[in-house]
Amino acid sequence: MTQPINTDHLWMPFTANRQFKDKPRQLVSASGMYYTTDDGRKILDGTAGLWCVNAGHCHPKIVQAIQQQAAKLDYAPLFQMGHPDAFAAASALTAITPPALNRVFFCNDGSEGVDTALKIALAYHRARGEAGRTRLIGRERAYHGVGFGGIAVGGIAGNRKQFGASLATADHLRHPLDLSRNAFSRGLPPYGAEMADELEQRLLTLHDPSTVAAVIVEPVQGSTGAIMPPRGYLEKIRATCDKYGILLIFDEVITGFGRLGAPFAAQYFGIEPDMIVCAKGMTNAAVPMGAVVIRQDIHDTFMHAAPENAIEFAHGYTYSGHPLAAAALLATLQVYREESLFQRAAEMASHFEDAAHSLKGLPFVKDIRNLGLVCGIELESIAGKPGARAYEVFSKAFWEKGLLIRTTGDIIALSPPLIISKEQIAELFGSLADILKTLK
Ligand SMILES: Cc1ncc(COP(=O)(O)O)c(C=O)c1O
Repeated sequence: MTQPINTDHLWMPFTANRQFKDKPRQLVSASGMYYTTDDGRKILDGTAGLWCVNAGHCHPKIVQAIQQQAAKLDYAPLFQMGHPDAFAAASALTAITPPALNRVFFCNDGSEGVDTALKIALAYHRARGEAGRTRLIGRERAYHGVGFGGIAVGGIAGNRKQFGASLATADHLRHPLDLSRNAFSRGLPPYGAEMADELEQRLLTLHDPSTVAAVIVEPVQGSTGAIMPPRGYLEKIRATCDKYGILLIFDEVITGFGRLGAPFAAQYFGIEPDMIVCAKGMTNAAVPMGAVVIRQDIHDTFMHAAPENAIEFAHGYTYSGHPLAAAALLATLQVYREESLFQRAAEMASHFEDAAHSLKGLPFVKDIRNLGLVCGIELESIAGKPGARAYEVFSKAFWEKGLLIRTTGDIIALSPPLIISKEQIAELFGSLADILKTLK
């Protein structure tokens, strides 16, 4: 047993701090599909960390690339300066994005990516002489990070209520989860494409299309419990945006880098957004990094609107394109390519789906939904104690089964690294089934 860890000084993010510190769960090392705890137990990672370690933990090629870069170029600014790996990393990223999206703005995480994309949308319309387009439309139950822009277009009341007034220019579509018609759907839910009509029929009618700059959606809503778009829904959103000159932003912080078995959800669904926000899997989470990948003509509009020697977009971060992150991105993309991990995820998806749906009929399971290597298992809540039932599963998984899962409310969300094997899928769902059978 190692020395007890003093947990007093760290204020933990999105954590019930007092509950955690009563009985801390500490991870001290990781490799492949497994974490190791401070008491020496192996934990099967059912969530790729936080939906981000897609190539598995401590991949040697990524580790080596970061180590070498740290010894060679610790830091270089991207403000009026450059370093070759930042440019190489941007080019390499555009090799897997939809062809029209080939300009990259680097930031450090998904929250910064979302706020960057929203600012690009507003400034783009302004540069084209449509400064009246200031409205930003998100969805209920959307998670777009924790910046002020992200919480405004996001649809989680709990992430806003402590902070007073939010951006007045944000409005929201309803979320498309409909258990009355779609419970236990395999893959895309069959019913509900018409929910996308609300964009044109309600929000654009209410606000007038000429005031709307952008619509932002997670193609699959991850953080609030793996909510899949009904068949045909995203196509309708795209068509309405096109009809009214509104930009469509895909927040692919979770769906990017193979989670659905394609590089991005954009390719999986065959829908081209105007911007993609990405982060997490882009460096296999080994170094923080985010990006917005932008349609070239949007980028070019900025270049043409500003005088030759002017800064075209007054935005950026000290660590945009940080050398360690750039090296990690280059190495990660190489690993995804060499190990065909996106294809592997696509091949494993139907097996994962079968294993997930084998939990149907177990106590308190009221929905199972899945796509690619994402799965949500929704449980009946205990009256007056929302979240308690799923937390019990989470706790038993960690302490009794050596399994890391994620819960949100009473929904269990699974998103393992793309390297997961059939045996590990069986272990993941087998352990969960054992736990669900014990629930009272
Ligand atoms: C869809 C989506 N957007 C944005 C974010 C925020 O990313 P970060 O935590 O890196 O700021 C997340 C994080 O989970 C996310 O799932």
